[in-house]
This record gives sequence, structure tokens and C-alpha cells, in this order.
Amino acid sequence: MFFTKRPKLESIVDANQLNPELLSRLFSDADKIRRTEAHRPGKNRKLLKGKVMATLFYEPSTRTRFSFESAMLKLGGSVISSENAGEFSSAAKGEKLEDTIRVVSSYADCIIIRHREDGAAAVAAAVSNVPVINGGDGKSQHPTQAMLDMYTIKTELGRLDNFRITMVGDLAYGRTVKSLALLLAQRKGIELLLVAPDSLRMDRGTVSYLRSKSVKVTEDADFEGALKKSDIIYMTRLQKERMAKDEYDASKSLYIIDEGRLSLVSPSARIMHPLPHVEEIDLPISVEKEDKRVAYFRQAENGLYVRMALLIELLRK
Ligand code: NCD
Repeated sequence: MFFTKRPKLESIVDANQLNPELLSRLFSDADKIRRTEAHRPGKNRKLLKGKVMATLFYEPSTRTRFSFESAMLKLGGSVISSENAGEFSSAAKGEKLEDTIRVVSSYADCIIIRHREDGAAAVAAAVSNVPVINGGDGKSQHPTQAMLDMYTIKTELGRLDNFRITMVGDLAYGRTVKSLALLLAQRKGIELLLVAPDSLRMDRGTVSYLRSKSVKVTEDADFEGALKKSDIIYMTRLQKERMAKDEYDASKSLYIIDEGRLSLVSPSARIMHPLPHVEEIDLPISVEKEDKRVAYFRQAENGLYVRMALLIELLRK
């Protein structure tokens, strides 16, 4: 039987709670789950029978909410959900987040929350009676995205140490890059190149933290040079909804991967993206389907298996 005799996990609001030992266990569970889903899906359907997961999303989501919900259903559990919690939960009547969470935590065995405010998941975790998972809070963190990003790097490159990764785009308001940076800082031999418009550079605190953990960081790297020499190219969308219109207009269309740029990328390198992608990826669908270097749809699928592993870790008896 999978998943026995392990210390119980609490809420996850910060990527640093996902230490290398836990990740390595979740990744090997995710590998098993993927195989079982392919060959004996019925076996997974019993693991969380009778458990209830609540998803409270105050910001739009496709992958995070659907993959968590699908993960729970595929494990035999049930889901209660508010996809537009700002409008459809009692927040619209002026209820405080703390009160909503206190109540929902008496109906569910875990809560996945996405919120526009930095720090909202920590506020929720502090009052909840059940584990809270941060599905993205403002420009702050998105720990389970970072978890699936690391799993993807492992499955695509075959290693989690000694590689060169370039992060491109909105490194200021993007929460996925911040959480991923924290997990990279736990590894050895990481070289991180940052390519961002001037006003969207990664915050000083994260950059100095990475350096203090021996990540070799190069800021303002040359985009095309970085494409040629990276093992992983992590593209991001400009977080239009978190910035002023003129800030967005000044920065959009600066760093785009099209077929010309793709030709610079080594055959063994991989392009990742948390998705949704907009103008920063300009590749025909046929290339996205057939070119092995395009890893972002596999990355999104991986979210399902690692989230299944995480739910089992959180909710098993
Ligand atoms: C990201 C997010 O919400 O932070 N999406 C996701 O969860 N895969 C990235 C984004 O919205 O740009």
C-alpha cells in the first residue's frame, strides 16, 4: 500500500514548507499515481473516499482549480467549490475572509484558496481547523505550482541539481517565479538567469536570498544568449491585472518566443510556462504539439499527479 506511517502535513502557504525530502517523496508518489491512473485507475479511487475538499477561488483559475478538483475526484473524494468567491460567497455581503474560512473549515477536510491579496492564505491558515493550501495569493506565492514545476524539471531533465534556468517576463508581480526560486534555492549547482523589463525585475529580497543560498544569479541577462545556453527556459505572462496600464504597455511584447527564437534553444532544453500563455509565446499549435522542447502542456498535466500525491499526504488517515 502507498503512503503509510508518515508525519502529517499541515497547511501549505509558503514554498519553503516543501522541503527536499517531502518533495522527493511526493514526486515518487506522483510517479506511482501516474502509472496507476494509466493501468488500474480504480485503485486510486479508494484512497480518499469520504473526504471533502473545498476550493475557494477569489481570482480566475483554470489549471490550479481544475487539477486540484480532478485530483480529489480521482482519489474518490468530493469537492465543494466557489470559482468566483468574491462574488458568489458571502464576501459579496461583506463577510471577512477569516469568518468564511472558519465556517468552510467545518464543512471540509481541506481548503484550497486563491486570493488577490498577498498573505491571504496565511490569514486563512491561521483560523482554519483543517489544512489550507495556497493556490496563489496576490503577487506573493504559489507553492504547489512550484512543486509541479520542480516535478516537471525532474521528469524532463532527469535531475534537480546542476542546471541552468532562465526566468523570463514578469518577475515582479508573478508569484510562480518567486515560489520556484525558493525551491531552486534548496538545490545544488543552480545557475539562474533573469530576463525582465526594467520595471518588472525580481525583488531585491528574493535575489539576495537566492545568492545567500549559493544560487548563481545573473540579472538583466541577454534574452537570446540565455535561450542558447539554458537547460530550462521558464516563460511567464505579464500580470496585467496587477499593474498600471502604462506599465503594461511599456513592457508587453519585449520577450517573445517565436519560431525564430525557438531555433536558438538547444534540442535537450525545455520551455516551461505556468500558463496561461498570451503574447509571450507565439508558436503555431503544430509546433507546440510536436516539438519536444515545448514542455508546458506536460507541465500542466503533471499538476494533476503531484496534487493527487499532496492531497493523499495531507488527508490520509
Ligand atoms: C499562474 C498564477 O495564477 O499565478 N497560473 C497558474 O496557476 N498556473 C500564472 C499566471 O496567471 O500568469
